[in-house]
Amino acid sequence: MSSLARTRTVLVTGAARRLGRDMALALARAGWQVAVHYRGSQQDALETVAACAELSVNSAAFDADFLDEDAVRALVPRVVQHFGRLDAVVNNASLFEHDDVQSFGYAALEAHLRSNTGAPILLAQALHAHLGERAAAEGEPAEQVEPIQGAVVNVLDQKLWNQNPDFLSYTLSKAALEAANTMLALALAPRVRVVGVAPGLTLTSHLLSQERFEQLHAMSPLGRSSSAEDIAAAVCFALENRAMTGTTLLVDGGQHLQRFERDFSMM
Ligand SMILES: NC(=O)c1ccc[n+]([C@@H]2O[C@H](COP(=O)([O-])OP(=O)(O)OC[C@H]3O[C@@H](n4cnc5c(N)ncnc54)[C@H](OP(=O)(O)O)[C@@H]3O)[C@@H](O)[C@H]2O)c1
Repeated sequence: MSSLARTRTVLVTGAARRLGRDMALALARAGWQVAVHYRGSQQDALETVAACAELSVNSAAFDADFLDEDAVRALVPRVVQHFGRLDAVVNNASLFEHDDVQSFGYAALEAHLRSNTGAPILLAQALHAHLGERAAAEGEPAEQVEPIQGAVVNVLDQKLWNQNPDFLSYTLSKAALEAANTMLALALAPRVRVVGVAPGLTLTSHLLSQERFEQLHAMSPLGRSSSAEDIAAAVCFALENRAMTGTTLLVDGGQHLQRFERDFSMM
């Protein structure tokens, strides 16, 4: 076996930019080879790969649009073809487009469900199948010191515990992913652990000024919501902790404990 094929490998979806890139780099620093998934942000994905290379970590970029089921199904085989193995998936990529009960329609619902629920489930399914094939080919380790076991992190959102009427299709897709978190944990055990990580308001967007973002970020019991480093650290922890499955880490400064009438971006 080559040294490349011996090193544990993680696929981080939506890892070209923003939170996904921070997760990819934190995992690279923890010694994982990183498959950097992107949809449209190719240049940013190549920059994430280059940043991994600066950490002396093998990394490569893989494109896939999660609206396309065939492209999602092809992703894990492409990663395995490149690295020789896959041990974990971080389902971070997410479609986040505004709708509400007035503008709601099947098109928005379907796009969010495909991107944010269907793709994470298919990637978990593919990881489970790959690990099963590896166990069949290599044989289970006799002592079970390092069982052939993998993990999936599903990135959720504190707003599931603190709902408001904005981003209806997005919220439904994340609520379905949270339910899938439990169902997959049961269905894929003991081969694959499944853990949710739910950020609070972490990064700003074009919908918020920096000043407003800072005000909203401070609105939490702890006086600050989550940083990108907090989220990346939670993802690393979830992948390392061999006893966790079927649960979610809320990493949000306690925002889920407070009532917000609107989405942060609409407040
Ligand atoms: N940012 C926050 O404050 C916050 C708060 C709560 C929860 N979260 C959750 O944390 C995660 C990361 O947040 P973020 O703000 O960094 O995410 P983001 O910038 O909104 O999206 C991350 C990536 O998802 C990819 N993506 C979107 N639709 C896709 C599709 N159909 N197929 C494939 N890829 C697709 C995009 O890749 P390309 O750029 O390559 O097209 C995008 O860069 C998300 O799951 C989000 O729901 C974030």
